[in-house]
Amino acid sequence: MIRFGFSRRVKGPSRDEVAGVLEMLGNNSIVLVGLMGCGKSAIGRRLAACLKLPFVDADDEIEKAAGKSISEIFEDHGEAEFRDGERKVIARLLSGGPQVLATGGGAFMDATTRARVAEHGVSVWLRAELPVLMRRVSRRDNRPLLKTGKPAAVMAKLMEERYPTYAKADIVAESRDVPHEQIVSEIVAKLNNLPPRNV
Ligand code: S3P
Repeated sequence: MIRFGFSRRVKGPSRDEVAGVLEMLGNNSIVLVGLMGCGKSAIGRRLAACLKLPFVDADDEIEKAAGKSISEIFEDHGEAEFRDGERKVIARLLSGGPQVLATGGGAFMDATTRARVAEHGVSVWLRAELPVLMRRVSRRDNRPLLKTGKPAAVMAKLMEERYPTYAKADIVAESRDVPHEQIVSEIVAKLNNLPPRNV
């Protein structure tokens, strides 16, 4: 019996498309924003590989700078101090473009960070539906905000609060259960349509 597997080959972006994005970007960063579980790290890594750019995860850099995990920072110092650190680390990282930078879900909610991203980057919102987000975040237990109540209710409230602000991003890509390469191709196509950034 022939077994038709689920693996579907996705055609990646063309060389011209990749070159177009790099030209548009100059020294700026592609900044991924969106809720926990939307795929900023997983898709960001693949996007960076496709564009041959470095990939940087802001949460990892915050942990390195603090010498503690995000959960420990929340426990020991509270969310306000975490947000201060997050703002500073992202400001520093934004001077290191061109790169693909994944940010924590709350980062783009900060007006100062949004202004810095607009100055030094192109923002990409990975929008996802609640069941997709919940399926993904349930795999790990590393998100302090989801430990404070019923995770699905917390996430639904965050969607309501944050989606209007995430919508200010330069482009929006639908994060869903398709191969990551497909989402990368969609992002590259949309980035290609943006006007060149000032270097
Ligand atoms: C947060 C998202 C987390 C992390 C922290 C707070 C948020 O990052 O920064 O737990 O406020 O949404 P991820 O979106 O990468 O999970």
